[in-house]
Amino acid sequence: MSEPKNHKMWGGRFERAPDANFYEFERSWRFDRRLLPYELALDRAWARGLQTARLLTVDECAQILKALDAIENRARTDQNWLDQSNAEDVHHFVEVALIAALGPTGAKLHTGRSRNEMVATEFRMFVKEAARAMSDALAGMIESFAIQAENHLQIPMPGMTHMQHAQPILLSHWLLAHAEAFLRDAERVQLAAARADVCPLGSGALAGSAFPLDRAAMARELGFAAVSANSLDAVSDRDFALEYLFALTVIATHLSRLSEDLILYASAEFGFAILPDEFSTGSSLMPQKKNPDAWELIRGKSGRIFGALTSLLVTMKGLPSSYQRDLQEDKEPVFAAHDDAHAMVRIAAAALLATKFNEAKLRAAASSPGLLATEAADYLVARGIPFREAHEIVGHVIREAEKRSQSITELPLEVLRQQSATFDADYFSAVTLEAAILRKSVPGGTSVESVRAALEKLQERLGSRVAAR
Ligand code: ARG
Repeated sequence: MSEPKNHKMWGGRFERAPDANFYEFERSWRFDRRLLPYELALDRAWARGLQTARLLTVDECAQILKALDAIENRARTDQNWLDQSNAEDVHHFVEVALIAALGPTGAKLHTGRSRNEMVATEFRMFVKEAARAMSDALAGMIESFAIQAENHLQIPMPGMTHMQHAQPILLSHWLLAHAEAFLRDAERVQLAAARADVCPLGSGALAGSAFPLDRAAMARELGFAAVSANSLDAVSDRDFALEYLFALTVIATHLSRLSEDLILYASAEFGFAILPDEFSTGSSLMPQKKNPDAWELIRGKSGRIFGALTSLLVTMKGLPSSYQRDLQEDKEPVFAAHDDAHAMVRIAAAALLATKFNEAKLRAAASSPGLLATEAADYLVARGIPFREAHEIVGHVIREAEKRSQSITELPLEVLRQQSATFDADYFSAVTLEAAILRKSVPGGTSVESVRAALEKLQERLGSRVAAR
């Protein structure tokens, strides 16, 4: 591939062609060819806009639209054509092809417009579509949690804080906790898409177009909700890309937390989760191994997503107003982070759905009496003891139990009564795993009834989402 003798888009004032290495360095076609579908849609809208403004005749516009169709068809079938193109970027690629097909008529399409507004518009179209795909993937993720929660509604597990036994919860409650996080992610992705839903077309290079274009009509044709308010801002602004990347980093954070939980739960020490063969790998040395590689890779790849956000933030931070070529560095991190995050969510949804849970182990671990210490304090509170005092009494009960190598539910009543005369025979039926879970019946709590209500609400939200599509 050789450098162009005289670059067709801007070569007029240059005496010499660009250095071959520099041309390779500055070209964006290698990655911005991904914007080709949006470029073609934009070109069609622009051609119609020029015709409405009487800058193209009806016939010229028709010729251009036909040539754009031909370019689209060839791009679909002739991979070599794309691979071997020497274009500077996606805009240059289409312009060269158009002029090759139509000569001077093709050379009219760039009237009154700039690549600065084009790239901003096409990048927004990409982010909107990416956000739609991500929303679908997140809905699949949330559905996996809902199915697993429904299938394991009543299974208790030890709830932990600081990775220490805290209070018993339901496995379904743990599952729906993760689902809530991904529901917020879906909202964040939609907000980023709404931010991208503003059309810069008509902004020119920075000052606005010199021709009487119907910006609203072009925006409508391209599926945008609004036109941008300030041409200088429109060519400078990449907030929508940052916001989408931020949404992706939070998704990655949530996936990483889920991965961490499941990797621990699948370890021999926990034994709560059974890794599905389909989403695990073995060891070349140790025949017994089944490794949680799906979750480890999901956790590991989150680093790339954070890198993408950081990279674009740092690029943006150094820039003055208006278009700067630095902005060409905006696309690769967004493309890569979207592709990675989308794959991560899809794999996570499928791996979670295929995961089996060891109910016996979960129940046994949830039955550890240490998890019931708060219940014991609540037992005293229900009989009139101030909570802080009850906390202290149960602390002493725990010390006594440890001395005797017994649990707080095994201690004889007379030993309990040495700590507080309020303890009575009903302590043993009040302070149980079942009672502990049953009592957390506030909305959002871990009682079976509360979790069932949460699950129904979640299924409603999922259902209305599917209906809205
Ligand atoms: N390839 C460029 C980009 O991705 C397109 C805009 C180029 N504009 C310019 N004035 N050089 O940002």
